[in-house]
Amino acid sequence: MTSYRPPERIRHALPVLGEPSASEAADARLFAPLCLASGLVLAERTWVPAMVPWRATAEGEVSPAVLAWYRRFAEGEPGAIVVEATGVRDIPSGPLLRIGDDRYLAGLSELARVVREASGGRTRLFIQLIDFLRIRRRPEAGRYFERFLRLRSEHRARLATLRPEFSEQASDEDVRSALAGLPRVELEEILSERELEALDYGERERVWDLHDPTIRELPAILPDAFAKAADRAKRAGFDGVELHYAHAYTMASFLSPRNVRSDGYGGDRASRMRLPLEVASAVRSEVGRDFTVGCRFLCDEVIDGGGTPEEASAYGVAFAAAGLDFLSLSTGGKFEDAARPKVGEAAYPYTGKSGWECMPTSLADARGPFGRNLAKQAQVRRAVRAAGFETPVVVCGGIASFVQAEAALRDGAGDVVAAARQSLADPDWFRKLRQGEGASVRRCSYTNYCEALDQRHREVTCRLWDREALDEPGVMLASDGKRRLVAPRG
Ligand SMILES: Cc1cc2nc3c(=O)[nH]c(=O)nc-3n(C[C@H](O)[C@H](O)[C@H](O)COP(=O)(O)O)c2cc1C
Ligand code: SF4
Repeated sequence: MTSYRPPERIRHALPVLGEPSASEAADARLFAPLCLASGLVLAERTWVPAMVPWRATAEGEVSPAVLAWYRRFAEGEPGAIVVEATGVRDIPSGPLLRIGDDRYLAGLSELARVVREASGGRTRLFIQLIDFLRIRRRPEAGRYFERFLRLRSEHRARLATLRPEFSEQASDEDVRSALAGLPRVELEEILSERELEALDYGERERVWDLHDPTIRELPAILPDAFAKAADRAKRAGFDGVELHYAHAYTMASFLSPRNVRSDGYGGDRASRMRLPLEVASAVRSEVGRDFTVGCRFLCDEVIDGGGTPEEASAYGVAFAAAGLDFLSLSTGGKFEDAARPKVGEAAYPYTGKSGWECMPTSLADARGPFGRNLAKQAQVRRAVRAAGFETPVVVCGGIASFVQAEAALRDGAGDVVAAARQSLADPDWFRKLRQGEGASVRRCSYTNYCEALDQRHREVTCRLWDREALDEPGVMLASDGKRRLVAPRG
């Protein structure tokens, strides 16, 4: 599928890294500790945010490759690592981590142990808890009409109006094959918007599909599912959890102004925030005040009719008032503007403009990719502070240098600096900066080879190192046999 490309395509050079000496780094804001309201102390304000690497087993368990992936980030000794989005419900979801049952405890405990060991106990480990709705792959058109379309009397009636030769008494089979043979303009008169979307993109559930009992019941089941998952994270030895209220997934969809549920969990802002607040409260009751519970949400959805920085500011104040220990901000990453997938593939929420804003590339408009959403994130933080809360705010998106990170902290955009792709390019970069070894940082080029692998559900690696030293003893290779799975040293 073709992803969104900004209309202006200016190639941006990387920002000046800034290479502090070890003693300059010791005085830097980035390397100052931070105490959360839970009592947990981050040794520094550096953060590796959640990144799905497609390495879990088919059952959603921690694999040796998952352990190796997080061990490698832990060797860079960041203040915190957030383990990838991990499903709270015990439903099959391919090689994505899960935490919906006690059988996952052994693997997750080993993961927590490995990170503690590799960072010498310096890095705090959180796990991102996610719920997501069902999305089907885009069907081949014939199969859609044959199998997936739920026939309604309106289909038959409209078909008969458009094609007088068609009998309203025709069998379902005849209706299906007649529909399959219609030109697009006529289909547009017969199918509903959602049916056309299912044909073009694959069927996707919405949080306001109240006719579907599993969707209707989400507010009844999710608080407990998140709470039990958080308790498992605590028992597995994690330092805390990050509730995933961002991007294209269930909780972000509840928060969105697009949520038109009519049962008290959609519509006005208070109703849209109700389930996220109920989940946070259930999690807190389960794990107690001294376990860290934060959430990640969007400073801007970047879609028509979606959440804005003003909305996000109100969410931030409400989450801080609810006692969340940190607020981690991201941007965009929605299904609503995703590109049309190829037949047999599922829509991917990072292919539209909102996805580009989530992971902007070096080929960008005049503003460039670097820290381009910091002003919106600063707006959310200001609102939280103005309401009297000191809750730390984690900022993210195109942060590629020490200079940028220090400025973000100094200017009050955030309290903690997260970097995903730069940490993938060089998992040691935060440690190198702290130890005065900035000159050896391997710098991300922001060209999104890694994101393209994620899109194809392939093991995520970085183009800067995945073909390097493949004959190194013990090197772990991707299933294609051509790429190493973790960054080499140096
Ligand atoms: C391969 C990949 C997987 C990601 N998976 C997640 C995820 O599981 N949860 C999440 O909140 N964000 C995820 N993200 C988004 C990142 O956490 C981050 O917000 C985004 O990459 C922008 O930060 P950066 O410019 O520092 O890369 C992912 C990003 C990448 C590149
Ligand atoms: S693959 Fe490209 S965008 Fe991704 S981390 Fe490596 S250099 Fe950065």
